[in-house]
Amino acid sequence: MPHDQDYLLRADDLACWFDVSPPWLERTLSRQPTQTLKAVDGVSLAVPRGSTLSIVGESGCGKSTLAKLLVGLVAPTRGTLRYGRNRKGGTLHPQMIFQDPYASLNPRWRVGNIVAEPIITLGLRASPADTRRRVDELLELVGLSASDASRFPHEFSGGQRQRISIARALATEAEFLVCDEPTSALDVSVQAQILNLMGDLQKEFGLTYVFISHNLSVVRHVSDRVAVMYLGRIVEQAAADELFESPKHPYTKMLLDTIPDLDDPRRDREPMAGEVPNPIMPPAGCTFHTRCGMVQERCRSVVPEVAVVGGREVRCHLVAAGV
Ligand SMILES: Nc1ncnc2c1ncn2[C@@H]1O[C@H](COP(=O)(O)OP(=O)(O)OP(=O)(O)O)[C@@H](O)[C@H]1O
Ligand SMILES: [Mg+2]
Repeated sequence: MPHDQDYLLRADDLACWFDVSPPWLERTLSRQPTQTLKAVDGVSLAVPRGSTLSIVGESGCGKSTLAKLLVGLVAPTRGTLRYGRNRKGGTLHPQMIFQDPYASLNPRWRVGNIVAEPIITLGLRASPADTRRRVDELLELVGLSASDASRFPHEFSGGQRQRISIARALATEAEFLVCDEPTSALDVSVQAQILNLMGDLQKEFGLTYVFISHNLSVVRHVSDRVAVMYLGRIVEQAAADELFESPKHPYTKMLLDTIPDLDDPRRDREPMAGEVPNPIMPPAGCTFHTRCGMVQERCRSVVPEVAVVGGREVRCHLVAAGV
């Protein structure tokens, strides 16, 4: 990893394992061993200030768990996480934007109080009047109006509620936002508005994003870099353009092959072959070998290390060997 770049976040060998054993008595009576689910297992990444890193992969591959690790909502089982300072030289307050803004906004609080809370908790403004002015400013910044402060979350549409979540995240003076499927619960036209808002805010305030989405067309559009996850590991990480133009890992190729072809929408896309294996008992060696069309003998027993090939990181024996 180069050291001359200004990174807002560096994660090294992060892991998050869950104990998913049956209750002790049941386990003892049936003589079952303990069971560990390695939701994230050895993830290293670095996010340059002001950029967007997207995380993609099928359901259950560990994207949300990684997102929670990155903002400190779950503690790592292993590994380290280092944040840069914010632009004023102070402590960074990473924020998370969730898929369902309604679930993450207190329904009994008026929007003004929701947005004011982090300002008050962190002591960011000297007086109640200053706090109120800042709330008005934030609401207008996200495309709402100051008069919306007196309304309740249920009085807003899904897209407007996501704007409220963004205003609340920005209220902490956050420069680093981890967005876990921020638009997937919204209609397509509203999705575009929220994505545009996020892009505008990024430009204006130099925000840094980690972005999780199942929509690969959106990912291609918004990302500087993309990390592809499979069963708790990043199998390929590259600049977005390079990854979409010439995917290297067989799993990345399989994922990208599901994107509709805009030039030829009638062309049949390859469906995803097979299913993600049970993460409690992942396959030995390269965990993708059970679905990989290029599988060789060592893939079944030897875990591929991260290889740097043409400026990108890939975990695949064949790619590392230049096949
Ligand atoms: N608190 C928990 N306890 C036990 N297992 C968990 C816990 N949280 C997540 N998992 C498991 O960890 C794995 C990764 O889950 P995670 O939610 O991170 O996946 P994801 O990539 O975000 O999936 P999706 O695309 O469906 O949102 C899954 O097998 C999930 O069941
Ligand atoms: Mg998720």
